Amino acid sequence: MRSVHVRFDAMLTKLLQEHEASKKERQGRPDFIDKLMENRVTEDGQTITDVNIKALISDLFTAGTDTSAVTVEWAMAEMLRNPAILKRAQAEADAVVGRDRLLEESDLPKLAYLQAVCKGAASAPVHPSQPAALLLRGVRGGRLPHPQQQSPPRQHLGHREGPEGVGGPAGVRPRPLRRRRRGAKYDPHGNDFEFIPFGAGRRICSGKLTGMVFVQYMLGALVHSFDWRLPDGEEELDMEEKHGLTISKAVPLKVLLTPRLSAAAYI
Ligand code: HEM
Repeated sequence: MRSVHVRFDAMLTKLLQEHEASKKERQGRPDFIDKLMENRVTEDGQTITDVNIKALISDLFTAGTDTSAVTVEWAMAEMLRNPAILKRAQAEADAVVGRDRLLEESDLPKLAYLQAVCKGAASAPVHPSQPAALLLRGVRGGRLPHPQQQSPPRQHLGHREGPEGVGGPAGVRPRPLRRRRRGAKYDPHGNDFEFIPFGAGRRICSGKLTGMVFVQYMLGALVHSFDWRLPDGEEELDMEEKHGLTISKAVPLKVLLTPRLSAAAYI
């Protein structure tokens, strides 16, 4: 951890220095780091130090990258096992975006089926991406819960209908999550306890909206822009899990992609 810290700190120090040097280029369009640096000494005398800023950036890297990437990877794996879902998501993207341009973030609100698939992936019974929640709490509180105390919630988080989960073996099957329950849609904001990919309560993921957009945008772009298939000779997907801060695939997914849009769209 010490050696990683030294490397990470050097990278962040360089990032702050480069930001300071190129501030003028972003005049009128300050970004997140500019805003933090502007407030290094606030009006009420409180200070945000460089160390605070570096800690915040490193928090965002740690909390925001693996979680989103892992969710997309599981969603792709499940869609490869259920090609009908991939086809339907592609048909929706074609209807909304067409084949002559790339999918953009502004298209996402119109892609209801894709959104449901992403919810399905985040709640997939066999590989929820949220164990970080319980582990981090334990660490921050100075006490790691006994594994026995952790496992029941970890097993059942993201499950709507018991151990078989929302979609049985096809974890991303989105239909159940689109169904209305007690007049409300299942939402991932910590209100439906069967579905809390971002945690719930006061420590709920502070990047949940960004996280949802990351996942929908990454998956949507891949669904829309390419046809996917497993490499030759690989018929079965290895769905083994690797437990870490998130639950990732033990064997990274390998997919062959074929463009499906008009050539001009990729330029
Ligand atoms: C699909 C993507 C994501 C998932 C599944 C996810 C999940 C979670 C979970 C389960 C927690 C713990 C909540 C709790 O303790 O109850 C958490 C915390 C956190 N997440 Fe995310 N997250 C995602 C994306 C992001 C992104 C993109 C960012 C920032 C850019 C982010 C920033 C954070 C931060 C800063 C915390 C700590 C909040 C605190 O303890 O006050 N997350 N996330």
